[in-house]
Amino acid sequence: MRRFVCLLLVVVVLPFFVPTAQATPGLAALPPMGFNNWNAFGCDVDETLIKETADVLVSSGLADRGYEYVNIDDCWSLRERGPDGRLVPDPAKFPGGISGVADYVHAKGLKLGIYGDAGTKTCAGFPGSLGHETVDAQTWADWGVDYLKYDNCNNQSDGSQADYIRRYTAMRDALNKTGRPIVYAICEWGTSQPWLWGNGVGQLWRTTGDINDEWPSLKSIIAKNAPLAPYAGPGHWNDPDMMEIGNGGMTATEYRTHMSMWAMMAAPLLIGTDLRTASPETLAILGNREIIAVDQDRLGVAGAVVSDRDGLMVLDKPLANGDRAIALYNSTDSLATVSVPASGTGLSRAPAYRLRELWTGDVRQAKSTISAAVPAHGTVVYRVRPLRDPAGTAPSVTADAGLGTLVPDAGGTLTTTVTNRGAGTITDVAVSARVPDGWTVTAQTPARQRRLATDTSLTTTWTVTAPEGTPAGRYPVTITADYTWGRHRPGETASELVSTVVNAPPDGRRHLSTVEPVTGTAGTDTSAGGSLITIGGRVYQRGLGTTAPSELVYYLGDRCTQLVTDAGVDDESTGQASFTVHADDAVAASAEVASGEPPVTLTADLTGVDWLRLVTAGTAHADWAAPVLTCGDSTPNDPVEPEEETLFSFESGTEDFTIANPGDGGTVAQSTAFATEGTHGLEVTTPLGGNWYGARLSVPFDLTGATRLKVDVKADAAAGTTGEIAVQTGAGWSWCQGSRWAWTDAGKSRTVSVTFEELDCPAGVTPDPSQIHAVWVFLNGGHVYVDDIRAE
Ligand code: GLA
Repeated sequence: MRRFVCLLLVVVVLPFFVPTAQATPGLAALPPMGFNNWNAFGCDVDETLIKETADVLVSSGLADRGYEYVNIDDCWSLRERGPDGRLVPDPAKFPGGISGVADYVHAKGLKLGIYGDAGTKTCAGFPGSLGHETVDAQTWADWGVDYLKYDNCNNQSDGSQADYIRRYTAMRDALNKTGRPIVYAICEWGTSQPWLWGNGVGQLWRTTGDINDEWPSLKSIIAKNAPLAPYAGPGHWNDPDMMEIGNGGMTATEYRTHMSMWAMMAAPLLIGTDLRTASPETLAILGNREIIAVDQDRLGVAGAVVSDRDGLMVLDKPLANGDRAIALYNSTDSLATVSVPASGTGLSRAPAYRLRELWTGDVRQAKSTISAAVPAHGTVVYRVRPLRDPAGTAPSVTADAGLGTLVPDAGGTLTTTVTNRGAGTITDVAVSARVPDGWTVTAQTPARQRRLATDTSLTTTWTVTAPEGTPAGRYPVTITADYTWGRHRPGETASELVSTVVNAPPDGRRHLSTVEPVTGTAGTDTSAGGSLITIGGRVYQRGLGTTAPSELVYYLGDRCTQLVTDAGVDDESTGQASFTVHADDAVAASAEVASGEPPVTLTADLTGVDWLRLVTAGTAHADWAAPVLTCGDSTPNDPVEPEEETLFSFESGTEDFTIANPGDGGTVAQSTAFATEGTHGLEVTTPLGGNWYGARLSVPFDLTGATRLKVDVKADAAAGTTGEIAVQTGAGWSWCQGSRWAWTDAGKSRTVSVTFEELDCPAGVTPDPSQIHAVWVFLNGGHVYVDDIRAE
């Protein structure tokens, strides 16, 4: 009877579903897949890169897996339009023009994308399309372009949503008029909530600011984009930005989270790494067929956030064949169990569920709770379907563990928890823990149990010791549960956790922002909002920017004597905050500060203290400004590390600052509007395309021993400022430049920094710090403040 009902359902329901799902696919019926050069190459784009990338997309098999668009980002054109008013591809970069690359890419069975801007200039200062929509759309269509990313720099906007809609609709209409199907990607960084108006304007819209190749960026983008799932669907997608997978700034676990979550959120999958040199591991992550199938599922539904607590998130995405993709995402810094009851997802009631883990291919059954012990920053993606008879399938068993920070030679407590989520009892359960060589681990409570029924656990407490002299760092500890299931079938579940060993800081006085906290996160030498720390108008180069309430913990191991720090509410926020310095269990110093008030200086005696905790409460951006920690037998007169040498402070004038290309325009003047040390800095006006500002030296700087250059910069009202640092070095005054940086918010300040190693020089030249003949900073955006160019 049951079977009959099911059959009947299939017969009756299918005819309804099939036509909807196969409706004539419009533009971007599925999230676009492809490549964009920006994340890996910035402005270094040319025809060779685009063609070679197209070649690799095909030869690597990625094209067969769906990667289709090869997208050119900013910096492809000349800085001026042609006499006919059209955009002109830079002939040095694209000798065959954009149409030439389009032909090449099309011949490979791929599609070509281009970049434009809904403003007067692109973010890098090339011509924008505001007021030129019709001619630019037609130009792109004539060239055979299939995809347009349309940016938002120099937008002349009054900031109203109406203006955003107007500017982005103007380009949609222009694209439509060409008659060529061109996917239209709105890139206004989520500024005017494009998810509310983008459907019908473009096929996708960026929901956030630019991604970068670091875990905090990935984490914050997921947090912003995931809840927007209801706004996505076929032909109208949320775009959390291009991928960073393979660029080297994150771990493989983090890159798998990147790929998993983009697929769960039905995001465009735009590869952002150099595919010509990508490692097999990178290609395997980008090419995972089953994850891609989740992204490209023809239902086109973005995964719903079914729970999000304490950094653990569950997403549930319906798939066309009736399965559901369920992602268990752990954004915390330690191994954690992420679970969801099947009844809390879109799964129908069943005796059990079949879980296929899409990164390992492992298949298990769970009775009613879908669960995994997920490594820090990791994501488990299951493809789940109801299972009538679980007997022949291995049970889902999780092995979770928690381990505090270890001080060498002092025992720490490890707690392991093995849980049977399968239908049916498992027997002869034995847990073991593997620690690095030379460490010891001893069970304090039983690590074995005869039987473990469904949804029950075995918890074991252990003592772990790292030997004396173990360097600070992160060490793997593996927990393994062995058991028997079904008719004497062996089963195993293993989890890896990371154990953190801490050492006390070395002797000396140092900025606390150069010491890694054991727990807690803060902006390093920036406010929580990403600017230089600024309290009551005073700008600091060093400090820790937090959002209250916050806690930062440092291990001192009875080796330090004093912390001196300013404390205050950052000028970028309002509200008030309390600041407490805890020395072990005692309060060593505290203050209460409101926004707009000057900073308070706190001095804490840390003699004999093992653990330092910096705690804020309240509701504001709470800064620990210029915190200096003294350890060992150093005295308050010793220099503070890392030491810096000021090259230009602008206290006594413009210090012979000039403009590298005077013909392009620009001015420099001494100013009090922005100063990071002392009272004066430099105020610069720039031409729209930017210019280099700096000084040629009659006596070269000898910066032997220094490894990097730094400069403090603040944008004025204009957004989209970009810049770099350059030096002229060696006998030949060779020009070496580096440090691509960009921001999109007006009024933000930051320290721009580049190591000598990172500078790009002419072939055969390496920068020689002992002979620096000139120092330059590239600035654009109209009006910029600069201060304190220095070497560290
Ligand atoms: C903005 C965009 C980026 C990139 C750059 C190019 O920052 O958001 O994705 O296109 O401009 O200048």
